[in-house]
Amino acid sequence: MTAHITANTITINQQMDAFDGHHSVWLFGYGSLIYKADFPYLERRPASISAWTRRFWQGSHDHRGTPEAPGRVVTLIEQAGAVCHGMAYLITPEVFAHLDHREKNGYLRLPITITFNDGSDKQGLVYIAMPDNAAYLGAASEQEIARHIARSAGPSGPNADYLNLLANALRELGQADAHIFEIEQHLALLAPSE
Ligand code: BEZ
Repeated sequence: MTAHITANTITINQQMDAFDGHHSVWLFGYGSLIYKADFPYLERRPASISAWTRRFWQGSHDHRGTPEAPGRVVTLIEQAGAVCHGMAYLITPEVFAHLDHREKNGYLRLPITITFNDGSDKQGLVYIAMPDNAAYLGAASEQEIARHIARSAGPSGPNADYLNLLANALRELGQADAHIFEIEQHLALLAPSE
């Protein structure tokens, strides 16, 4: 399949103008943003988005793998009726420059409705790696994904650390995610290089 979107999405994200003129913007995090907030924020609240589900279907060339041996990280897949739980951050627009660089491997910023645990909602943004990006890997069984994660590592460390940090962060939020927890169980049974 032809990949239409370059693996480096910094320029495309800089052209995203949905919140131009706003002093602050809500950002929904569903992956590493849940447990790694290496940026300043005004407020942080557990939240969810509807009709998207979290999947380890995106390749990582720059954090948990390399261009020659990409790791697997999460993206969101559209699914009617699904709810994806995560963490929302209220940030100032300058912070996007840092995040666009951190998440440059195929992720685009898209507008989304973010629902907080009290039922209120706000318009905000989310980074999603779409199936037409060059680093996309697509579906595999949870066992295959666990095997892939077990043998992958990149500049940010072992791919297994990313999975385990995410699973622990979801447990801390009190949110079960069958896909993530099933991969975690398979991974726990594997030696690091399998
Ligand atoms: C997130 O945690 O929301 C996130 C995951 C992958 C890329 C960018 C953001």
